[in-house]
Amino acid sequence: MVRRDGPDDPDASGGPDDPGGTGGPADPARPGLTRRRLFRGGAAAGLGAGAFMGAAALGERLLTPSRPAEKEPLHGGRTVPYHGSRQAGVETPPQAHARFVAVDLKKDVDAEGVRRLLRLLSDDTAKLTQGDPALADSEPELAGVPARLTVTFGFGAGLVERVDPGAVPAWLAPLPEFSRDRLAPEWSGGDLLLQICADDPLTVAHAARMLGKDVRAFGAVRWAQEGFRRSYGSQPEGTTMRNLMGQVDGTNNPAPGSEDFERLVWIGDEGPEWLRGGTGLVLRRIAMDLDAWDRLDRPGREEAVGRRLSDGAPLTGTREHDEPDFTAATPLGFPKIAEFAHIRRARSDDPDERFFRRGYNYEAASGDGADSAGLIFAAYQADAVRQFVPIQRRLDDLDLLNEWVVAIGSAVFAVPPGHGEGGFIGEGLFAP
Ligand code: HEM
Repeated sequence: MVRRDGPDDPDASGGPDDPGGTGGPADPARPGLTRRRLFRGGAAAGLGAGAFMGAAALGERLLTPSRPAEKEPLHGGRTVPYHGSRQAGVETPPQAHARFVAVDLKKDVDAEGVRRLLRLLSDDTAKLTQGDPALADSEPELAGVPARLTVTFGFGAGLVERVDPGAVPAWLAPLPEFSRDRLAPEWSGGDLLLQICADDPLTVAHAARMLGKDVRAFGAVRWAQEGFRRSYGSQPEGTTMRNLMGQVDGTNNPAPGSEDFERLVWIGDEGPEWLRGGTGLVLRRIAMDLDAWDRLDRPGREEAVGRRLSDGAPLTGTREHDEPDFTAATPLGFPKIAEFAHIRRARSDDPDERFFRRGYNYEAASGDGADSAGLIFAAYQADAVRQFVPIQRRLDDLDLLNEWVVAIGSAVFAVPPGHGEGGFIGEGLFAP
């Protein structure tokens, strides 16, 4: 599924095995150089001016690659197929960088206009995701590093209505009001969503700009949100992400490719025909009060979620993926996982009230303001009203995490199925 243009074993970087960098394997970005060797050069500098000159020359030699860069873990050439029965960017192992862009269509854009826009976007996405320039690419050199670029399209009710008002599924509407939400219109709603993900931020920026040019004649950006996870290669693939509160976030999630995932996430025969093979996305911008969180001690933080900070293991277990024991009690008879703990509240007895979380951290570089850091919470499910809403209600009623987090943006999108070569995204909506 993914082309590998070069060795990309994250361990080859020497990072995870040698976190302090105090003399492990050579830094592949600077062949022949290790910190220990560099510091040895530094010690030589203390011996006098002559020695200094020698050390400088030595340093220069150390910094000059002494052997070919055959071990550089390049991964910019990796691609994820665009064409297919399902859109990429849902089951795709999350890339390091994401940009979610919501567009409002201009008033005069009708069904034919929507079709033209979707075709343009599809053609350019097919190219960009494979490392080729967009049709009128103004910076074609930037297209050459796809870095697992995916662009996932989501349709708001506003777009679907322009084409076929009868085709809007019941769940494609703003979520019901929740008492704790403090939603801002500038982070909510939208007719069309572009979810742009890649392991390289320049790739994301270029794709966003090229697709943004396609959009210009048809609509305007309503909001754009940028998110990040750990950089590609800084941890072994498959490591569960951490959010800005420091928690391991994403442990109990339906596994991509599993039967569970198929049933919970992808829309099957019970859904509208144009959406079969697609899914639904609930996107919530959730701000975190990190200064208040800082004042909470470690046991308090762990109790709020019901999991350990060190490795994400439940408070009743020893490893991340151990099943939490919600019946276990302390010697004093209190539940080990508190009634208000996030994982107890977020878990329903109904196995159908589940969804797939694939979120991203966000942070404003200024660090100021109530919205300076948080989570772009992205939940994918076949039916948001049946699967997402009951869980959000439970959390709204009781969840200790609410002390530190608040939803400030919310949007729901239908993610249509993928398409084959020659087709375009959402083509089923236009079927006669
Ligand atoms: C900034 C806000 C949030 C933070 C920091 C957060 C954090 C976490 C953490 C650390 C876990 C435990 C590890 C895991 O299984 O992923 C977790 C689990 C979970 N969260 Fe959240 N979460 C947030 C918002 C939400 C929201 C809004 C929902 C849904 C409405 C949600 C639903 C879930 C679910 C379903 C689980 C798995 C529970 C289980 O073990 O069955 N979370 N979350």
